[in-house]
Amino acid sequence: MNKLKDHVLSRKTFAIISHPDAGKTTLTEQLLLFGGAIRDAGTVKGKKTGKFATSDWMEIEKQRGISVTSSVMQFDYDGFRVNILDTPGHQDFSEDTYRTLTAVDSAVMIIDSAKGIEEQTLKLFKVCRMRGIPIFTFINKLDREGKAPLELLAELEEVLGIESYPMNWPIGMGKQFLGIYDRHHNRIEQFRVDKKDKFIPLNEDGEIDGEHSLKESPLYEQTLEEIMLLDEAGNEFSTERVAEGNLIPVFFGSALTNFGVQTFLESYLEFAPMPQARNSTAGKIDPLSEEFSGFIFKIQANMNPAHRDRIAFLRICSGKFDRGMNVTLPRTGKTIKIAQSTQFMADDRSTVEEAVAGDIIGLYDPGTYQIGDTLISGKDSFQYERLPQFTPELFVRVTAKNVMKQKHFHKGIQQLVQEGAIQLFKTVKTEEYLLGAVGQLQFEVFEHRMRNEYNVEVTMERLGSKIARWIENDEIDENLSNSRSLLVHDRYENKAFLFENDFALRWFQDKNPNIKLYNPMDLT
Ligand code: G4P
Repeated sequence: MNKLKDHVLSRKTFAIISHPDAGKTTLTEQLLLFGGAIRDAGTVKGKKTGKFATSDWMEIEKQRGISVTSSVMQFDYDGFRVNILDTPGHQDFSEDTYRTLTAVDSAVMIIDSAKGIEEQTLKLFKVCRMRGIPIFTFINKLDREGKAPLELLAELEEVLGIESYPMNWPIGMGKQFLGIYDRHHNRIEQFRVDKKDKFIPLNEDGEIDGEHSLKESPLYEQTLEEIMLLDEAGNEFSTERVAEGNLIPVFFGSALTNFGVQTFLESYLEFAPMPQARNSTAGKIDPLSEEFSGFIFKIQANMNPAHRDRIAFLRICSGKFDRGMNVTLPRTGKTIKIAQSTQFMADDRSTVEEAVAGDIIGLYDPGTYQIGDTLISGKDSFQYERLPQFTPELFVRVTAKNVMKQKHFHKGIQQLVQEGAIQLFKTVKTEEYLLGAVGQLQFEVFEHRMRNEYNVEVTMERLGSKIARWIENDEIDENLSNSRSLLVHDRYENKAFLFENDFALRWFQDKNPNIKLYNPMDLT
């Protein structure tokens, strides 16, 4: 095997998806502790220590206690290089999460054992399924009373409509939580015991040999019965089906007490897919090919308020990145020398000299990049598949409070729009600025950032929810624009109508059968 191949095969790049409060931050932190990337719990989310790290860089997050932006964390473990992409839990930022999911090879879904499958988990699960991303499940908070494991498993299969395979099985829960029966490693991992007693190997019959106090417990008896049921009536484990995303490995544990996390991490690394080939205009691009290529899935300004910089997050899809290399941006045909690049550790950023397919690096962005941009080093030009675009549902009319601040106002809007935080429209006749978003919170973040980063107070007049539909043929009679069907330009100068409601949309289509309308989300 050559060196590049070895490196690429060692990469595991995933996102954690969950409903808020299921334990994403806690689990991330434990994984980073195993990887030696952080020393103290509380580094990722500074709630407990008062210290704020990468994923909590924005003031508004501190105020609201939610993680608004995705960030990237990297660590090494057992010969693997792991890239974790954080995703915002709040539904108003699904757009950011969906784009992040284009940059991973697998996903870890955390479920709170007391709550089962929650709304946001289900939504994100569906996106992963649609994209064929293999999912690993961690059922969390076993140290608390929750739903019965068999009930959770049934819920998983019924609600998600996918087969699962429990890699381990709890022995009791809550106050009576004794440990887990590890089917994969054929051992029992005991909860809250001395290190030397932590693992008990199982014999060929899957039971404890000789004398052991655990054998006396009715909970152990019950676990053995349930394991028998799973062996007989459950799904069979298949590495291929896991890799195809058609079988979900399920792990039970408790992130807070760090129980079952290491076993989860080790099994995950064993079965999670390596960097996958990705679709492009030139067909699938092999991650092991020598030529460097990647795409930008996220742009974030002012990540570090002390630096006032802008970072474009690049997922490397093939070949090797060397700092100082020249790459081409096929969208413009320009060649760019990448001198400033960053990799992300949990509590720090450091300059990256080399990276390979699977890695995520941050590129210093003076305004060159757009979300979805492809970068390549080879002679044959191609572009990666377009990223999912969201149709905004809520709209506001925006102006600067102080007319003297127009320059800052335009700069702020332009940068925040390029980041993908919000979408910008201009009315065709009156040239007013409208902003479109998927959730209300996006407007609040916009207002906050305009004030804090660009020093501009904005006025936002709510226009409420609208149905946005783009027009296939750009030649259109501007007189068709009225308050119920407002004609606008998007930021690429494509024309669209904002309809007041479903009725207005149908009425318009009836009256104008020759005008072909489309929803960009139907194209992705
Ligand atoms: P999130 O990022 O998915 O939103 O969840 P986070 O890790 O912040 O966890 C949400 C709450 O659940 C936290 O409690 C956390 O301590 C708790 N938690 C996470 N994992 C476990 C677990 O395995 N067992 C138990 N019992 N609790 C767990 P909090 O009180 O909301 O916050 P905090 O003030 O303790 O940070």
